[in-house]
Amino acid sequence: TTTYLTGIQTSGMPHIGNYVGAIQPALTLADSGPDVESMYFLADYHSLNSTKDPQKLREDIRSVAATWLACGLDPTRTILYRQSGVPEVFELATILSTVTAKGLMNRAHAYKAARDRNAEAGSADLDAGVNMGLFNYPILMAADILVMETNYVPVGRDQAQHIEYAADIAGAFNHLYGENYGFPVPQGRYPEGEGSVLPGIDGRKMSKSYDNHIPIFLPENRLKKLVRRIPTDSTPVAEPKDPDSSVPFRLYEQFADADQVAAMRKRLEAGGTGWGEVKDALFETLNATFAGMRERYEQLVAADSELDDILADGAERARTRARATLARVRYAIGMD
Ligand code: TYM
Repeated sequence: TTTYLTGIQTSGMPHIGNYVGAIQPALTLADSGPDVESMYFLADYHSLNSTKDPQKLREDIRSVAATWLACGLDPTRTILYRQSGVPEVFELATILSTVTAKGLMNRAHAYKAARDRNAEAGSADLDAGVNMGLFNYPILMAADILVMETNYVPVGRDQAQHIEYAADIAGAFNHLYGENYGFPVPQGRYPEGEGSVLPGIDGRKMSKSYDNHIPIFLPENRLKKLVRRIPTDSTPVAEPKDPDSSVPFRLYEQFADADQVAAMRKRLEAGGTGWGEVKDALFETLNATFAGMRERYEQLVAADSELDDILADGAERARTRARATLARVRYAIGMD
């Protein structure tokens, strides 16, 4: 059996970068054969680093669960669960922290970025604003992955370092205890090309923390307004344009059919086509892609217990698997 696992933080409605980077590829893998086990989860404890609002967290948990289901996850085939519903994850994180070098964590991108920001701001304390949750984040993520004995992790390219760390931590554990038990060493599965890191409306990586994202299920009128607001350069309509320098075109490329994209590229390069036309086409394509899923999403979020029931069932199935791993790990370390 091949196990695929991935998680999404519960920090607001997922955006179209999450969709092309993780959700869509993960759902394709879940359907890719008979010997496949897929485990997709809500990384609710991870989101606690940025969210301190309990009511918003409750809503975000429902939103991310509904997104997975609306996008086509079949909960009878894929185990959909909350990280917080599987406490074995946290026990494993504690064990893993004892085989992980602090220096490895010092080099983690998110932690280093926080220190760089403090340095730039001239702060005397480079760790200002950094909590231990952020610092330990890669260890908790390794536990998410290893506790399910995952083989492949479908994620966007922005998560590559986290996946390498999980593999390193598995290697460190296996080196010490491998005679008794070893984790499968996990690998990332990244989408090809641009979708691996989708740009946000300002051209940087699409991310909630940059506030440059397009939520997947924005109502139609708000989606249209947001797409119209994407900045473009001021090349006159008549002049030839470079499609690859334009965010609307790069997003269009991800969602439209290949021949539509090729035709649009030609027209832009020839001149006579303005960015407004690309934005209209982008809006139409996004709306056509997500309208059906949006309806299902809204039903799921409004429904009373459907989401809770699915998550409770998923947690139970996920725990069965996590408990088995923990029993082997405890034996391996002499804690049985
Ligand atoms: P998160 O919640 O930031 O993002 C969820 C998934 O979406 C991908 N993604 C993108 N893909 C392409 N272009 C973008 N602009 C873009 N932005 C986000 C991410 O790569 C990710 O696959 N640390 C993870 C959550 C996590 C996890 C795990 C993932 C916790 N434990 C275990 C896999 C396995 C995160 O913050 O993703």
